[in-house]
Amino acid sequence: EQDKRESLYIVSNYAAKFFADSMWNTESGKTIGLSYFKERGFRDDIIRKFELGYSPDDWAALLEAAIADGYQQGFLEDVGLVIKNDNGKIYDRFRGRVMFPIHNFTGRIIGFGGRTLKTDKAVPKYVNSPESDIYHKSNVLYGLFQAKKAIRDLDNCFLVEGYADVLSVHQAGVENVVASSGTSLTTEQIRLIGRFTKSITILYDGDEAGIKASLRGLDMILEEGLDVKVVLFPDGHDPDSYVQKFGASAFKTHIEKAKKDFIFYKTEILLKEAGSDPIKKAGVIREVVESIAKIPDAIKASVFIRECGGLLQMEERILISELNKMRLAKA
Ligand code: UTP
Ligand code: MN
Ligand code: MN
Ligand code: MN
Ligand code: MN
Repeated sequence: EQDKRESLYIVSNYAAKFFADSMWNTESGKTIGLSYFKERGFRDDIIRKFELGYSPDDWAALLEAAIADGYQQGFLEDVGLVIKNDNGKIYDRFRGRVMFPIHNFTGRIIGFGGRTLKTDKAVPKYVNSPESDIYHKSNVLYGLFQAKKAIRDLDNCFLVEGYADVLSVHQAGVENVVASSGTSLTTEQIRLIGRFTKSITILYDGDEAGIKASLRGLDMILEEGLDVKVVLFPDGHDPDSYVQKFGASAFKTHIEKAKKDFIFYKTEILLKEAGSDPIKKAGVIREVVESIAKIPDAIKASVFIRECGGLLQMEERILISELNKMRLAKA
């Protein structure tokens, strides 16, 4: 069992080397893969640090190379690098895509994300490795291996949505950044961050989906007893597009200026949705108190209740009784 897992790590590492070699050392790799990354503004040192690569646009380039180098097809299938269809035909999962290896936090490669170079909307933008004996998506964070030292040193972790966000933010010198790529944020991922810091700052995309995900994420983070702040980006921007367009120093300034404690963030978002309708406003209060009720530390919760009272012009006494009701309902 342990031997099998070891074989899966080894074949995944082989694939990452193959994709990197295909990108740096073949004509198509250089003109298609490497130039794609360069056009997006990624520097060589970042491309190497994250071991990015390119999967040739053939049906079985990886499979054939791996077999020729003595690897077993079964292991390639087990990690989903090759797929066997119903007719028994075997082919590479990743073809003609730029490749982002996914490391576990000790640095071993356990899976891949592959981005299409086509703008055709019918083609899925990212294809990801499936779950395997070495890749459990719910407890993996993209970039954690490269970020963990900075997370500990800075005692904060930035959480972004995508692979490119991790790369661009890291490249800008903000190295304490990870993404929950390929899944929505899980409790296991939050606990994993919790081993390095008790403070998370969410930097999600400035679109409807990003806002929804940030509200869900902040409740989960509070429930785990971590502190959470949120930075919104102007609509249509994600951290990658923002930092690539405006530069590292504007990015850092934006973070400092736009960073909001969860309670201000959530209140602001919900109040904007509620408008002037008093019933809806009451709903906002309830929802904000609901988040506070998730905080395990009673002293912290009471500080936020006070904050909330001021923010929503509501008597603390009433908020506290709401809070206690919610706590009882949960218990
Ligand atoms: P986004 O749609 O925000 O993509 O998805 P992105 O990261 O900004 O991609 P670029 O900048 O166009 O390259 C955020 C993340 O969701 C996952 C990926 O992990 C992606 O980075 N995703 C997205 C998928 O797994 N599959 C998809 O088809 C799309
Ligand atoms: Mn397992
Ligand atoms: Mn998005
Ligand atoms: Mn995005
Ligand atoms: Mn993007």
